[in-house]
Amino acid sequence: MERSLVLVKPDAVERGFSGAIIGRIEEAGMKLIALKMLKLSRENAEQHYSVHSEKPFFPGLINYITSGPIMAAVFEGEDAINTIRKVMGATNPEKADTGTIRKDFGTDIERNAVHGSDGPETAAQEIKLYFSGIELQNYARK
Ligand code: RTP
Ligand code: MG
Repeated sequence: MERSLVLVKPDAVERGFSGAIIGRIEEAGMKLIALKMLKLSRENAEQHYSVHSEKPFFPGLINYITSGPIMAAVFEGEDAINTIRKVMGATNPEKADTGTIRKDFGTDIERNAVHGSDGPETAAQEIKLYFSGIELQNYARK
């Protein structure tokens, strides 16, 4: 069993796609074990995206991800990280496959609707950033 942290990014929340995006991931068989709405501080955003701190797009990314409320979710399931990244589609919505979240709900390479963890270690770090242990639920997905 793997876990992944998913963010519905500000552009998608603003356009009313939170439910649809969470739903797509549930439909892919992943179990929703935590969910909340929040607005990231610059400090938390810089921590979340610290691997990109030297990239030219970093300042824009921080401005964008702190620009409005986001939904943070944790999903659990078999091969959750790859399964969710497939459902999300390529980083650039223009290059994303038909039927993926980013193709259907993304605007451009920055405002691409959704984030999903890229590996088990990053997932564990990211989940800790957003949720405490008692916020992660344990139930059988039917
Ligand atoms: P994410 O971390 O958000 O799930 O996205 P990802 O793995 O598909 O892409 P990553 O390379 O980790 O980039 C993180 C986020 O930075 C923004 N970005 N902007 N302007 C640009 O060239 C550019 N490249 C990346 C996107 O919002 C991307 O999701
Ligand atoms: Mg990434």
